[in-house]
Amino acid sequence: MIQPIEHAAEILSTARRAVALTGAGISVESGIPPFRGKGGLWEKIDPMKVAHIDAFLKDPETVWKLLIKDMKRLLDTARPNPGHSGLADLERLGILKTVITQNVDGLHQMAGNSDVIEFHGNFAWQSCLDCNRSIETSQVDLTTLPPRCSCGGILRPDCVFFGELIPQKALIRSQQVSAACDVMLVIGTSAMVQPAATMPFIAKDNGAFIIEINPEATPLTSRISNLPLLGDAGSIMPRLLKALRRRLATP
Ligand code: APR
Repeated sequence: MIQPIEHAAEILSTARRAVALTGAGISVESGIPPFRGKGGLWEKIDPMKVAHIDAFLKDPETVWKLLIKDMKRLLDTARPNPGHSGLADLERLGILKTVITQNVDGLHQMAGNSDVIEFHGNFAWQSCLDCNRSIETSQVDLTTLPPRCSCGGILRPDCVFFGELIPQKALIRSQQVSAACDVMLVIGTSAMVQPAATMPFIAKDNGAFIIEINPEATPLTSRISNLPLLGDAGSIMPRLLKALRRRLATP
């Protein structure tokens, strides 16, 4: 019987419009903890108290102290890992067209992917709640929390909090590329948060082959994944790329 990695390489070797949907798990090996599962952030803090827009607007100081300050510290130094680089290699090979990511860490762009849909916004920028000015997160002074704009307004990251809508353009493009893809790689997401978790269903309904990379089973695994690859993205992706390159080199 063909090994799962070889099978995935075979499928990808003929794909022309592959799309990846990624979640927090792909950045775990870059030192950023996930939200759910082993070592998940939401085991320690209640997302409704720190990641809901109402909680932020009610008490921005606490949300900055408990969540955003630590995120800034982690993301300031995080670098792409072999999971991210594997997706950039797949784009260079002409196989992967788009990455839809729920992550706000910018690591796919840093790794070299050129079409990244940031489904939940990004952490690289902050906006002023009063004048709406944008400020780069790297320029924000955290001496007093919450940090403020020069107009005195409170700064918030350009990330989607619980209770907020997905940016319309990101949602529509994600639905379009999901419907048009021939293979969807679902990597490092618990597939628990909507509407991101509907993208693999859209892909599958439109005939795509679903390859899932995750050390744990998810709600997708038994329902729609054609090929679950059980393991960490940082170790599976290099093996997958190696098998794929071997196939592409063989006439
Ligand atoms: N490689 C691949 N997957 C991994 C790895 C790894 N090294 N380590 C953990 N995982 C898997 C976990 O098994 C889990 O299924 O990554 C998944 C992480 O799930 P979540 O933490 O729920 O992340 P995500 O699916 O991106 O969450 C969606 O929830 O709280 C919100 O806004 C937040 O965008 C986030 C959304």
